[in-house]
Amino acid sequence: MAMKTEILTLLRESGDYISGQELCGRFHVSRTAVWKVMKQLQQEGYIIEAVRNKGYMLKENPDVLTRSELKSRIHNRWAGNEIYFYEETGSTNIDAKRLGEEGAPHGTVVAADKQNSGRGRRGRTWESPAGKDIYFTILLRPEFPPDKAAGLTLVMALSVVQAIEEECGMEAGIKWPNDVVMNGKKVCGILTELTTETDYIQYVVTGVGINVNLEVMPEEIDETATSLLLEGGKRIGRAGLLQKVLKKFEGNYEKYAKSLDMALLEDEYNARLVNRDRQVRVLDPKGEWEGIARGINASGELLVEKETGETVEVYAGEVSVRGLYGYV
Ligand code: BTN
Repeated sequence: MAMKTEILTLLRESGDYISGQELCGRFHVSRTAVWKVMKQLQQEGYIIEAVRNKGYMLKENPDVLTRSELKSRIHNRWAGNEIYFYEETGSTNIDAKRLGEEGAPHGTVVAADKQNSGRGRRGRTWESPAGKDIYFTILLRPEFPPDKAAGLTLVMALSVVQAIEEECGMEAGIKWPNDVVMNGKKVCGILTELTTETDYIQYVVTGVGINVNLEVMPEEIDETATSLLLEGGKRIGRAGLLQKVLKKFEGNYEKYAKSLDMALLEDEYNARLVNRDRQVRVLDPKGEWEGIARGINASGELLVEKETGETVEVYAGEVSVRGLYGYV
């Protein structure tokens, strides 16, 4: 770990003054070198107080999103242990695919403060302004067949909801298969892309966009989208939330890879499914129909009960569902 990252970790974890002398001794550097690191951190937005005879203390942990901030927080087995951070990029999914081609390891994460051509599902764009939201992609090299990869999006949706619960103390839900919603509006979208070699997966990239501190939603999506700030009324530190999502994802991914389905995650997922026991319209290209959503099965399919009493397993790749009275 770089000295700056380590100093940041020490300051955050101690919550108290750390003397300049102690830091000099620890890193075998001069007082001026330590002072320079503090200056750099202050320039990045950290409020660090320097008091004679006491040392340095981190007063506030503002919403800083930098490589050092992420590095100093992420201590997982593999999710995010390799991290790339860009102030600005086209799309983190495209960056992650490039890294995938170059041989980057399983769990590599690309995060950005701003995307110039953020991509959504169905060829849509994903608005990605600077300084407000989370945009990241994780590169995965699963050792399972390509038809099991679709489930990873459900695994990520569950991880995001759990992270919002723990880190922000707020309740979010899942709109099947993989939108994260609050009060009927979308706060997070996930885009998984697969690169395969005849019958095995070369790599998968799962990209996540979370609306965190946006004060106003762009007019075009105001009816259907919201942010954590708008829902909870408080600013959220993006690095802390991103770290929590990765931590949750690491654990959930391992459960998924163990059974190669949602069996070990099904209950957690269904408990957060907003469509559950609600009337939905299934947008099947072969003909739309309606029923009551009952939850997912171990394969991640949505069980929809028709009026006749018959239950149909709906597969996410083919259809999407809509609530009868709006987006959810
Ligand atoms: C959706 O349409 O719901 C999916 C949106 C996915 C957006 C994220 S932001 C980070 C990553 N990079 C992209 O270009 N897209 C995904």
